[in-house]
Amino acid sequence: MIRIVISNQRGGVSKTTTTHTLARYLADQGMRVLMVDTDPQGSLGLVLGVKPKHYLYSFVVHNFAFEDCVVKVAPNIDLLCSNRDTTKVEVALLGMTAGELAFLRIFGMIEDAYDAVLIDVAPSINLVQTCSIMYAKQLLIPVAMDMLSLQGATACLETTRMLTELFKTEIRPLGLLPTMVDRRFNLTSLTMKALEAMSEKYHIPLLHPIRTDGTVPRAERAHKFLVDMDNHCKACEDYQKAAAELLEILNVKPKPAAIEPSTA
Ligand SMILES: Nc1ncnc2c1ncn2[C@@H]1O[C@H](COP(=O)(O)OP(=O)(O)OP(=O)(O)O)[C@@H](O)[C@H]1O
Ligand SMILES: [Mg+2]
Repeated sequence: MIRIVISNQRGGVSKTTTTHTLARYLADQGMRVLMVDTDPQGSLGLVLGVKPKHYLYSFVVHNFAFEDCVVKVAPNIDLLCSNRDTTKVEVALLGMTAGELAFLRIFGMIEDAYDAVLIDVAPSINLVQTCSIMYAKQLLIPVAMDMLSLQGATACLETTRMLTELFKTEIRPLGLLPTMVDRRFNLTSLTMKALEAMSEKYHIPLLHPIRTDGTVPRAERAHKFLVDMDNHCKACEDYQKAAAELLEILNVKPKPAAIEPSTA
């Protein structure tokens, strides 16, 4: 079972793009994937053009049936959407005993139907994000090519360290994912160097970088997964390489069903 939070406290670093592109990659490998949006901006639903009847709030706070809240967005991919009401989830969690562990119980009840749960979070540290990390215990950190993104990644690692100490549990940053990489810019080489140093210092793998590619915003506007927009585009190729590295780190083999039938 794969559980990953896609996190960086800096906004606009490709958290949402990485979440749905990775989800689709895993689904294409034959895995049943649940995407959970915990960002009140509700980006995952907006990007994929989904309007659910009920959102994360109803599921977590009012115990609505999971089936009534989740939406199928592609074969093997379900999405639990977020909206502004997610800010009220925060308030509800504050009122719960050991609220930080609430998602362990809540998502523990439904996760058996899936092989992977990917959680997209808001660009800030809040209780919903802490809950997501305590549930998944694994993070993927996209880092765009600027210094504030690096700071956001460092803040993320600091939070992880604090939670590890506080709850005496191991939380594992699976990888740093360079995003919106454009080698023509000096800032890109500076940020990549800093990322290499960060990777060494914290012993976190540096994954295959994702190049800047206009196909990403175009796919977004068309409400499509990147692979459905253009499966040969630069970003798509890069995401496939990074995702394959991630599966190796997780020691996960694709399901036999995902293997193409032989034509021999
Ligand atoms: N590889 C890429 N090439 C070009 N544009 C990209 C790439 N990745 C993401 N983008 C664009 O950058 C913007 C921010 O991406 P995204 O929404 O995935 O970031 P985010 O970290 O989820 O943002 P937020 O912190 O607001 O939730 C989007 O408009 C997206 O289309
Ligand atoms: Mg986002």
